[in-house]
Amino acid sequence: AHQWRGVIAEYADRLPTHVQETVVTLGEGGTPLIPAPALSERSGADVYVKFEGMNPTGSFKDRGMTTAISASAARGAKAVVCASTGNTSASAAAYATRAGMVCAVLVPDGKIAMGKLSQAIAHGARLLQVDGNFDDCLVAARKLAEAYPVDLVNSVNPDRIEGQKTGAFEIVDALGDAPDIHVLPVGNAGNITAYWKGYREYAGLDAGEKHGAVATRTPVMWGFQAAGAAPIVQGFPIDQPETIATAIRIGNPASWQQAEEARDVSGGLIESVTDAQILAAHRVLSAEVGVFVEPASAAGVAGLLMLAEQGRVPAGARIAITVTGHGLKDPQWALKTPEGHDVEPVRVSADVVSIAAALGLD
Ligand code: F0G
Repeated sequence: AHQWRGVIAEYADRLPTHVQETVVTLGEGGTPLIPAPALSERSGADVYVKFEGMNPTGSFKDRGMTTAISASAARGAKAVVCASTGNTSASAAAYATRAGMVCAVLVPDGKIAMGKLSQAIAHGARLLQVDGNFDDCLVAARKLAEAYPVDLVNSVNPDRIEGQKTGAFEIVDALGDAPDIHVLPVGNAGNITAYWKGYREYAGLDAGEKHGAVATRTPVMWGFQAAGAAPIVQGFPIDQPETIATAIRIGNPASWQQAEEARDVSGGLIESVTDAQILAAHRVLSAEVGVFVEPASAAGVAGLLMLAEQGRVPAGARIAITVTGHGLKDPQWALKTPEGHDVEPVRVSADVVSIAAALGLD
């Protein structure tokens, strides 16, 4: 049986050679593209979710971390640094450990999910909680990497984008062509940049031309930010971004311009969804699609459902939505009712009659 070898080996002919000299991999990529009838019915389209929570550290970051850490390893780097709302730090910590490197992570004070914090610590990262938000952390990480012998592994590192573009390749490979529309959450805007690059290359545009086209066209890109952290939608940086979707609590995205380019060249859009819409989409994903994600990962689905209600989803369109991170990273949101009450377990004694009664089977 064929064992998936990680994105560098699987897409070697479409990745730069400098990431292939010293490959550091945990078998990332090869994630399922899952049909989502509950979303198709609600939107009148043909909807699939790309479940990136199935990566080794539970988020899409692993696709870009294998390439970034491999490039650093080939250069002989001893240490890496990242700013993070959590997932990048978990991924960087795991891949750096694998490569025998020191990993420093700068996270915003008190605003990162427990699962992600645990991962960074478990993998031996030098974790610093910075008195500031993600944007402050990124400024500091960039300066540290400029002044000290430490490689920056945020998505401003072009090797990250190279790895993350493989998400688009996998969707085209699974569907046989590009979807009509690609939907995803937008935070620091690295992933929308990467998907757009991947789709263009697979359609024989840009760097992909020398390998021949796989897709016949590129999708329309739909990005969604959280309403309290929607600088691209508002048109200016947000000083104090706020959202329960802590992964995308970002006020000044590093790849802002690239995100606008993906939006404009594809004829797409970047809009915002409220925390309430995000939590409602989170519930549809868990309770109807069967896919458990963290809140930020539901922003794309929330956007699709919003546009469906507004009658703006083209009938029958084939739509791929990247759901970016696993629900186990930030599970507390499943334990609240839509009204915000705690979900309490029903207590029963250990006999079958009480259990059957509690289940309404009597
Ligand atoms: N979804 C999740 C679960 C994320 O962790 C992130 C970004 C995004 C979406 C947005 O992706 O930044 O490429 O636009 N998390 C980064 C981090 C910022 O530090 O883990 P983006």
